[in-house]
Amino acid sequence: MPIISAFCKKGGVGKTTFVGYYAHYLATKGNNVLVVSIDDQNSIFKIFGEDDKIFDTTDNYLEFLMAGKQDFSDILIEVRENLYLIKTLNTDKLSTRLILERSQEKVIKKIFDTYNDAFDYVFIDFPPSSSRITEVLLDMSDTILIVVGLDSLGLGGFINTIQYFIDNELELGKIKYVLPNLYVKNRRAPKKSIITLGKQSQEFTPKSTLLPYFSEKSTVKNLQDKGLTPFDDVPLDRYDLKEKKKIEDELLDIFNHIDLNK
Ligand SMILES: Nc1ncnc2c1ncn2[C@@H]1O[C@H](COP(=O)(O)OP(=O)(O)OP(=O)(O)O)[C@@H](O)[C@H]1O
Ligand SMILES: [Mg+2]
Repeated sequence: MPIISAFCKKGGVGKTTFVGYYAHYLATKGNNVLVVSIDDQNSIFKIFGEDDKIFDTTDNYLEFLMAGKQDFSDILIEVRENLYLIKTLNTDKLSTRLILERSQEKVIKKIFDTYNDAFDYVFIDFPPSSSRITEVLLDMSDTILIVVGLDSLGLGGFINTIQYFIDNELELGKIKYVLPNLYVKNRRAPKKSIITLGKQSQEFTPKSTLLPYFSEKSTVKNLQDKGLTPFDDVPLDRYDLKEKKKIEDELLDIFNHIDLNK
């Protein structure tokens, strides 16, 4: 089953939001879905209103599984039906271990292989900073999706991401999708930014599909404040319900352009 990574060298562009929403959508369709947070902020928990689970116990992190101190099922945290998360304690330390102990790379590969057998989809949520763990996991991914903010800083982040792939000899062909996000500070010229991004993605990642953009919605923030995703079926006031429906439709259109089994 596919391993899907959301990545970008620029922070705050919507990687975690998109991974959370996509994973939740697939889970509501009856798939068994896992999201592994390689970001030690573990902000994916906030998307589901489960912030308290970030620090609930001290030993249910990926590192404890790697060290053989926990079992596979002990570190899985269920946040919705069919949807599980794994958290990371310290990304830098994990990376240092991967560099110092070659055997750790085999351990992490085995872990992902095992989860891969047990789940229909495995997502990886990365921080914008990169280290050895990033390289190893991007290399293991079947599909990489780059989320890009639609302003000059966001576009710069896309170029930095390409540069990072080249510098680390990562396969650019694995970048199958580029998702533009309109949630940016400088919203003055989104159309121009889309055109530029289209040209850049054609030049550097010719095999990738430029997805329809995710527009900025205050409802995304409202829902996140409530710990809800657009795919939670809960009573809301009329305004929020209408806005939620709009985001849902927009996301479904984006998902329709993605083939994770390709
Ligand atoms: N389309 C959108 N409309 C409104 N708010 C959005 C949208 N996309 C993202 N956000 C908000 O932007 C913030 C950053 O999003 P998110 O955490 O998903 O980005 P990220 O790329 O994962 O960040 P980091 O690099 O820190 O991991 C969040 O508060 C989120 O609610
Ligand atoms: Mg994030």
